[in-house]
Amino acid sequence: MSRTLAIIKPDAVASGKAGKILAHLEDAGFTVRALRMTRLTRAQAGAFYAVHQGRPFYDELVEFMTSGPVIPMILEAEDAVTRLREVIGATDPAEAAEGTVRRLYAESKGRNAIHASDSDENAAVEMAFFFSRHEQLGLEG
Ligand code: RTP
Ligand code: MG
Repeated sequence: MSRTLAIIKPDAVASGKAGKILAHLEDAGFTVRALRMTRLTRAQAGAFYAVHQGRPFYDELVEFMTSGPVIPMILEAEDAVTRLREVIGATDPAEAAEGTVRRLYAESKGRNAIHASDSDENAAVEMAFFFSRHEQLGLEG
């Protein structure tokens, strides 16, 4: 078993899709190991997506991610990172496969309902971004 970080983004929380997305992830075989609702500051959103600094969509991305509450969570499954990327689908919902979270629930390439870590290394960094060591360790079994 391995773990990854997902974030239900502000568009999906605001449109009342968080419960459906959570159910979709559980139905896909993930176990929720940690979860909270929070609202990111500009500094936090900027740091979280620092890899995209300088890209044309960066300012819009930070604006969007701070526009309302988000729901970060730690998900566990076999090959969690790879599996979750499959389950959420392509960045642009128009290109996402049938039945994926983004195809079902995303509004657009920018407002695309959910984030998922893209490597085990980034998953470790991103889980630590939202959840304390105590929270991560206290969730076994
Ligand atoms: P994420 O990091 O949120 O899981 O999304 P991703 O890996 O599928 O896509 P990535 O390339 O990492 O982009 C991060 C987020 O930036 C927004 N974006 N907008 N308008 C655009 O062209 C554009 N490109 C990216 C999306 O919210 C994307 O999820
Ligand atoms: Mg990404």
